[in-house]
This record gives sequence, C-alpha cells and structure tokens, in this order.
Amino acid sequence: MDESQSIETLVAAVSEERLWDRHMEIAKIGATGRGGVNRQALSPEDAEARLRVLDWSAARGFTAAADDIGNLFIRRAGSDPEALPVVSGSHIDSQPTGGNFDGVYGVLAALEVLDAASDADVQTKRPLEAVIWTNEEGSRFQPTTMGSTVFAGSLALETALDTVDSEGISVREALAETQARMGVAEHRAFRAPMAAYLEAHIEQGPVLEATEKTIGIVSGIQGLRWFRIEVTGEEGHAGTTPEANRKDALVAALAMVTALREFMADPDDRVRFTVGRFEVSPNSPNTVPGRVLFTIDFRHPDAEVLARLGDQVEGICRAKAGGCAVTVEETISSPPTEFDPAVRDLLRAAAARQALAHMDMVSGATHDAKYMADLTPSGMIFVPCAGGLSHNEAESATPKDLAEGTRLLAEAMLRLANR
Ligand code: GLV
Ligand code: MN
Ligand code: MN
Repeated sequence: MDESQSIETLVAAVSEERLWDRHMEIAKIGATGRGGVNRQALSPEDAEARLRVLDWSAARGFTAAADDIGNLFIRRAGSDPEALPVVSGSHIDSQPTGGNFDGVYGVLAALEVLDAASDADVQTKRPLEAVIWTNEEGSRFQPTTMGSTVFAGSLALETALDTVDSEGISVREALAETQARMGVAEHRAFRAPMAAYLEAHIEQGPVLEATEKTIGIVSGIQGLRWFRIEVTGEEGHAGTTPEANRKDALVAALAMVTALREFMADPDDRVRFTVGRFEVSPNSPNTVPGRVLFTIDFRHPDAEVLARLGDQVEGICRAKAGGCAVTVEETISSPPTEFDPAVRDLLRAAAARQALAHMDMVSGATHDAKYMADLTPSGMIFVPCAGGLSHNEAESATPKDLAEGTRLLAEAMLRLANR
C-alpha cells in the first residue's frame, strides 16, 4: 500500500459505532444518575475506567507502559523498533459534576486510531500510542494537568505526590492504589522522547456549533495561573463576640473576592477569573468563621496581561485581610502556548482533503497538549459540543462529530508516523 492508499484504508476503518459504544461504556463508570460522571483523579472509578481501556488494548495485542505519576501509554508497534512514537490522548478523570466527553474523547479517539490501523492492517514506521494523562482536571488534587506537567518536568514529582485532597489523602496514597490496580509492569521514563503529540477534545465552548464547523484546528492555548488562598482569623461565639473583637475569616475572604472581581473586570470580556472552591471552617451557624480556603483560576491569552494582572492578586488579598492572616500560594503558572505551525498546517491540509468544515481557534480551556508542546511538535483537534456546555453533566456531542474528528486524527497520526 502506498501512503495515500494507507490513509484511505485507515480513515475508512474508523468505526463511529465502536467509538460511541466505548464512550457509553466509560460513561457508566462513576455515573451520577443525572447524565454525567464523578470520576475524579485517582479514585476507584478512575482506576476502573483505565482498566477498561487496558482490556480493550490487550484484546488487540497492544502493549502498555506507565510512568511514576500514573500516566498510561498504550502502544501499537511500528515497523521500525528504534523509531519514536506518535502519541495522542487526553484524560479520563472528570470534574465532580463532569460530562461524558471532556477528556474521554481524546483517549478513545486515539485508541480508535490504533484499532482502525489493526482492522485495516495498516503498518506504520513509527509506533502509534494512546495516552491517558493522570489528573488533568485538578478538581480533587491541584493543580490541573498534573500528570503531563510532571511528565514534562515542569512540576516536581515529589511536590505532586505530596499534594493532598480535601480529605487529607495524598496523591502518593491514591496513586499507589491506582498503579496496583492497573498492574502495568513496563516503566516509561519522564520526558521520554516522542516524534509528535496530538490531542482531540470537545471544544468546551460555543464557537464551532455557532459557525457550523465540524473541526477546530487549535492554534494555541491561553495562559493560566491558579492560586490557593488561605485566610486565618479566630473562631468565636456568634452570640457574644463584639464586632471589634472579631477576626472573621469569611468577611475578609469576601472582601478579597469582591476586590479581585472589580480589579479583573474587563469590558472586552477576555479575562477569565473564577473562584471555584470556597471552604469555610468550622462551617457552623453560631461560630465566627476561623478559616477560609478559596481558589482562583485566572486565564488570559496575552502573556503580558496574564503577568500584570496576576501579579496583583497577592497584594489585593493582603490589603483586604483586615485583622486576619492570609497566605497566597500560586499552584500553577503557565504562559500562553502556540502549537507547532507545521503540525497545524498538516491538520488543516488533512481537514481540507477530508472535506471537513474547519476553522482555526484558540483554546480557552487548558489541556495536556500545553505541556507536550514544550517537548515535541504538538497540535490539537476540536469537535463541537452542544451549546458549548462543558464541566457540566449535560455536556454532549454527536457520534458523527466525534467520528469526523477521529478520522482527521487518524490521517494526521499516520502521516506523522511514516516520516
Ligand atoms: C481543564 O479542565 C481546564 O480547566 O481548562
Ligand atoms: Mn479536558
Ligand atoms: Mn475539564
């Protein structure tokens, strides 16, 4: 088979039905009963979903390797044992009220390419790999994109392992259980070289649907900074403590959030500023709150704005602390990313060849591809999701769009794998 025949055969072997059925299988793991999932990182449900992928892979004779943060790599061998792999994937962990496509799609699309290659008997020079990155969501353990960040060397493994969830369980403990259940013997080193990295994902925004496009060719990912703010006051009796004697951590935290929101207000609506976690202790009606923990997720596509506004967060919190103590910890700082122009060209040309309606776009959400772009030529493919809704149990995408994105991924992986 010459390359154009291989591409035709591979693309034709992508199975919309198998891809959709697998989404529906994974959707059962951690199902909330309201149409979504709670399959947070390194939970038993996360392990269960990984096992399902491992079963499907083993049935095809694909091999598996895991690294020390639990990133899982599924390999379909190439003809050249020395050649670096073409890798694609995403994550299988979810938000606490997550949907059935965020992350899962990128993993199952990559696996579908491996399966389609076997069905079509297409031999590639380089190995093809599907990867599951650990803890992309960052809802249980902060920060987001933990697995790919550690893999790329941008976050120390020990720092990640020492991170605890709100129950005090560490990544170290939860990961040990996940690794034991996966039982993958082959070890993958951090920063193990790859020939290229691609990631398919639902858009998680409204643009593709509104413009009636099937494919977004992602030019880059906006920058993001996460902060963890802890305000410490003093617990006291709600009925007896005079105003002057209070050190109310909640009142101080509310003043901080109000001031930060005013500071971040943007008439152009390009700043993304979210306080998504807010914990009050002891959370009792008749005790003056002694401690508040809250998080900030701040994003902007412009590195200068990201630095300028983000650098003011700590000062604003201190200015509004009143009599309370405040600590501001930055848990992740990641500048805007631009994907490799040659990979984008390749994706654009393949989308045109497959007659898929496509457009270039910047990603508002972050992705594991952000860290792969530091290591290897990388790119991303978006497909539409209904109403642009994501991080929501009602998140939805069509079998047809998921399959179209996978056909594009298949062509791009094959072209890269024969170079
Ligand atoms: C990923 O889920 C993100 O927060 O962008
Ligand atoms: Mn995601
Ligand atoms: Mn997400």
